[in-house]
Amino acid sequence: MWGSSGMGDLLGSFPESVRVRTKHAEKSCEDAAQVARVTSDVVQGSSGKERMVARTVDLRSDTVTKPTEAMRIAMANAEVDDDVLGNDPTAFLLETEMAKKMGKEAALFVPSGTMGNLICVLVHCDVRGSEVILGDNCHIYIYENGGVSTIGGVHPRSVKNNEDGTMDIDSIEAAIRNPSGELLYPTTRLICLENSHANSGGRCLSVEYTDRVGELAKKHGLKLHIDGARIFNASVALGVPPDRLVQAADSVSVCLSKGIGAPVGSVIVGSKIFIAKARRLRKTLGGGMRQIGVLCAAALVALEENVGKLESDHRKTRLFADGLNEIKGLKVNAGSVETNIIFIDIEEGTRSRVEKICNYLEERGVYLLQENSSRLRVVLHHQVSASDVQYALSCFKMKPAFVTCCRQLLREYKMKRATSERI
Ligand SMILES: Cc1ncc(COP(=O)(O)O)c(C=O)c1O
Repeated sequence: MWGSSGMGDLLGSFPESVRVRTKHAEKSCEDAAQVARVTSDVVQGSSGKERMVARTVDLRSDTVTKPTEAMRIAMANAEVDDDVLGNDPTAFLLETEMAKKMGKEAALFVPSGTMGNLICVLVHCDVRGSEVILGDNCHIYIYENGGVSTIGGVHPRSVKNNEDGTMDIDSIEAAIRNPSGELLYPTTRLICLENSHANSGGRCLSVEYTDRVGELAKKHGLKLHIDGARIFNASVALGVPPDRLVQAADSVSVCLSKGIGAPVGSVIVGSKIFIAKARRLRKTLGGGMRQIGVLCAAALVALEENVGKLESDHRKTRLFADGLNEIKGLKVNAGSVETNIIFIDIEEGTRSRVEKICNYLEERGVYLLQENSSRLRVVLHHQVSASDVQYALSCFKMKPAFVTCCRQLLREYKMKRATSERI
């Protein structure tokens, strides 16, 4: 099982004769895992040693996708012009399409999700001393360099994120500052949600919940922003059209380079006035780019071709999670797997053990990220096939079988040595 000591520890205890047999044992374990069916290449590992790589399955994130052939053709043929001057026709097409899909008046292409969130927060909180309420486990709060405060002078007020990515409505309301205390308090101007919620394992916020937060925001004269980096994943998983899902929001930041697999960029959506302010701020932040039609052309293909693949990505993710749960020493909270992200808890995990597992999988071409000292993260995307999932699972299964073989050989060897010493 994954909780056992690694094969490196075991191999060190073997004499040469047993190490040779161990190599055969490893081979038969691989056979058992049916890896032999897959075409293998011998490649040079980082240590300089040769290693067998059957294939590469990159599960680090859905940001790792490569542009498809159709995207590359669209990029090569894109009609372009200077977007800072407001003339790029392909950018205009993409922005119009995204505004329509999200049910908002206008849209703006931005270089990244981080810049999209930053611009949205800053447009809503354009008075110094503003405060934004957000989840303590959300992307803006944790992974965006505190940009809303360091660049925007906006004070973040975090509210506990529940396991499903929500914040309790009562807790949000309690965090809203009383305007009569403005001599002392910052002024609450904005609430941020994240859908799907990455750090909760890609869980989705329901339309009912989002509407309730929207009503609360209205009641207190606040704005609502949604970090919709994976809003299409949430929309598909919930079976709710994206425009309905974000109806209560004043702005949404939608990533092109996550679940839907475009190479670069995000689009923010909102009212015409909001987007006019956002355009100016984008320029201030250095995000005004010239012939962006090249990038937008790939995103238009992603919208056209990849949103329809998300359901299958989610199905494969569930199969993967179920398969992982059958492996002793690994645990996935199956109930939390709603979209394309899986958190794998390693029983008796330690940082070095989890690192060993990552290295072991990497040597077999399976890449994933270490979330913390006892947790791994896997993210699926449209370039992970069903057979990639089976291959990755077989690699996860292989290690326990191999370790068991090594143990057996070590026992046999010790018994033989003890017998010969007696004779
Ligand atoms: C939920 C969420 N929001 C925002 C971002 C930021 O996107 P980017 O990496 O394009 O800046 C990410 C990136 O992974 C994300 O997962």
